[in-house]
Parts: sequence; structure tokens; C-alpha cells
Amino acid sequence: MNQTETPRLTVIGTGYLGATHAICMAVLGFEVLAMDVDERKIAKLAGGEVPFFEPGLPELLAKALESGRLRFTTSFAEAGAFGDVHFLCVGTPQTPGSDAADLTYVDAAVRGLAPHLDRRALVAGKSTVPVGTAARLTGLVHELAPAGTDVELAWNPEFLREGFAVDDTMHPDRLVFGVASDWAYERLTAAFQPILEQGTPVIRTDLATAELVKVAANSFLATKISYINAMAEVCEAVGADIKDLADSLALDDRIGGKFLKPGLGFGGGCLPKDIRAFAHRAEEIGVGQAVAFLREVDAINRRRRARTVDLVRELLGGQISGYRIACWGAAFKPNSDDIRDAPALDVARTMHGLGGHVRVFDPAALDNARRAFPELRYGESALDVARDADVVVLLTEWADFREIEPDALAEVVRSKRIVDGRHALDAGKWRAAGWEYRALGRS
Ligand code: UDX
Repeated sequence: MNQTETPRLTVIGTGYLGATHAICMAVLGFEVLAMDVDERKIAKLAGGEVPFFEPGLPELLAKALESGRLRFTTSFAEAGAFGDVHFLCVGTPQTPGSDAADLTYVDAAVRGLAPHLDRRALVAGKSTVPVGTAARLTGLVHELAPAGTDVELAWNPEFLREGFAVDDTMHPDRLVFGVASDWAYERLTAAFQPILEQGTPVIRTDLATAELVKVAANSFLATKISYINAMAEVCEAVGADIKDLADSLALDDRIGGKFLKPGLGFGGGCLPKDIRAFAHRAEEIGVGQAVAFLREVDAINRRRRARTVDLVRELLGGQISGYRIACWGAAFKPNSDDIRDAPALDVARTMHGLGGHVRVFDPAALDNARRAFPELRYGESALDVARDADVVVLLTEWADFREIEPDALAEVVRSKRIVDGRHALDAGKWRAAGWEYRALGRS
């Protein structure tokens, strides 16, 4: 094709990242072919169903399908024949039994796609990978693609947050183009033209820096959360108040209030595994000491889960066993059905293991939670699981939970005890209504 023309895009991997990217790019006017080896996922998407919870995305999928610009396939051959720019959006989970990132899916995607690349094309990785991966994959693509070195590799990390995925994709804070040539930079520029026209800043850099930007960003965010949670531990020891402390820090605009919310800590498919994979990779390349603090960030975060269980135990007079415990929340954060490394479910399972009669409700993640942890009991609503409860434990700060009135809840529970694992409730209001209210880091 004429290289000044609008590129045709493929998206390899249709999880949270890939499906969102494919749908948004089609809505922005590109011809997009989205590919996944999971036939069920592809059938759902092609039929207009988003296979996960993401506000706004189902409407955009309908729009993209209606435009005729978005199609789905399970064929690498079709993807190879169609695309000028191929976005790699497959997952890089934690390797079982290790802190390293599991690159099985990234390697399989490249090995599947490259043999079908017989003309000049760009493969742009978006997945979060250990630094050095793009350089290795460049060699693999050159070796396997019939077009050889005419196929180039670039890295274009993605920073979208679940729950805000559409907005983060359509209006990103910045774009990072990790490239090895002017041609690759021009191709990425063409592939993001409508977003660049909004004035979105672009950082042009090399492959390794682009890979690092993503893990550095997530490590910074994780560190900020663990920092405030470490302060919460200190507050607990001296009877100080973490909420007031965090609010005071947040008003210093050099610090800022984002990712400074104390509580149960971070989970999800990104932050926990990314800091571990980064620490692991840094050790491999001989700079482990530089990011050794990430081990501590992880440890602080894990302690939040144990400490939340302790708080419930304290409130119940010293034991969990035999008590009825209502758990509000299963997803790793609100506005998501994602339960990967979810702090809420960790806490619920621990209390179940200690003999508590645990019942869990979540507005979106119940099906996923049921499938993953069938041993737990689930209910149909926040009030349903709170029926006759000895304690209610808020674990994910859904708006639905925050809106429940203390008096309405008092009518169904056995005892008016509440643990606010996310500092999401108005402590004064609950205490005034006669509740024993406890939160981490508050006396
Ligand atoms: C994160 C990054 O924000 C995103 O840029 C990257 O692309 C993927 O990883 P996500 O996993 O969707 O996104 O969730 P995020 O909103 O970052 O929240 C992560 C976790 O931190 C959640 O469990 C959340 O509850 C917790 N959190 C967040 C806090 O405990 N305190 C805070 O102040 C902020």
C-alpha cells in the first residue's frame, strides 16, 4: 500500500485491553480486524456482546459493528493478510511459582502472526513486557516473516484503567512510541492520527524505554498506594488518623491526592504482577538493588489484607469462627468485574478459612467470583448478604455500597458493626446511627 494512506489495523488478543483498543479504533474511523485464539470470545464480540464489564464499551461495540469497520477472526492468516499495523494486546500474567512475567502468549502471538507477514508491515506491542522483550521479538519476527526485515517492531505501551478504559483510550494523557526507525514512527503516527489531532503529547523513544515506561508508571502508582498504607500502619500504632493525614498530603500539589487513598490496597491484573515482574527482571539484568523497594511495596500491600481480617476479628471480640460476615465487594476495584488478585476475595477467603460464615455480594463480579471460588457463599444484593450478619465488611468501594443508609442496613443485620476496608463511608454518620465503625489507620 501507499505508506501515506490510512493503515488498516489488526488487534491480536481481545481481552480488556485488545477489545477496547479494537472497538475504539474502529469508532475513530479505522478499518480494524480483531483476532483471538479464543473462539467463544470472538463469537461473543462478533455478536455484539462485550465479554467483560466495562462502562460505555457495549454501546461503542454496537456502533463499531454497525459502521462495518470492525470485524473479528480467529485466523492469524487473515490478520496477516489484512493489516498494515498489527497491535499485540495479549496478556502477560505472572508465571505460576515465580515473579517473572509469563511471555507464553506474547511469543505465541508473534509466532502465529509472523509467518503470514509477506509485505512491509509494523507489529506494535502494547502488552506489558519485561525490558528487552521487544528486541528479542524483533529477531523472531525477522526470522519468521516471509517479508523478513521489511516487517518492523515497535512498542506502544497502554495505560488504560479498567472502568475508564474507553476514555483512557480515546483521550490518553500521552502516547509513547518506542520505535527503531522513522518509518515505524510515521506508521504509528498514522495509526493514532485522530487522537494526535486532539493535541495528545507523544514521546518518541527507543524500544527499551517504551517497555520501561509502562512498568515504571505502574510501579510508581503502586508505591504511592503502599506509601499511604504504610503511613496507615504508623497511624494505627499511635492512634492517629490516616484519613486526615492523607487529605493533608493531598493538598500539597507536589504530592497530589490521586493514588493516595488508604485502605485495603491494590490488586488487579496489572499493578501486583507488574511490580513483581519488574523486580524480577531488574535482578536478572543486575540492577535488582535499584528497585528492591518494590518488594517492600508488595509486602506492605499484602499486609493490608491480613490487617483487614485482624480488624474484623478485633471487632468480633477476638475470633472469626462461627460469626456471620457480610462481604461487600469481590472485584479488585469498583466499575469492574475483574477479580484477578482481588484484595476483596482474598479477605473473604481468609475469613471463610478461619471458620467465618462468609457471604459475598458484588454488583458486577459475582459470576467470575463464583466460578473461581465456588467454596464461598454468595448473595443477590448488599442487603441480602447482610441479613443477620454479625459484621459487614466493605471491601470494594462501589457507589451502590456507599449509598446504603445506616438505618436501612440496621434493619437487616444482627449486630451494628461495620469495617470500612476502603475508607468509603462517612464514619461520623455511621457512628451517629449507633454503628461500631472501624477502618484501617483510624482510631
Ligand atoms: C492500572 C493502571 O492505573 C493503568 O494505567 C495500567 O494500564 C493498568 O494498571 P487498573 O489495574 O485498571 O490500572 O486499576 P487502577 O485504577 O490503577 O487501580 C489499581 C488498584 O489500586 C485497585 O485495586 C485500586 O483499588 C487500588 N487503589 C487505587 C488504591 O488502593 N488506592 C488508590 O488511591 C488508588
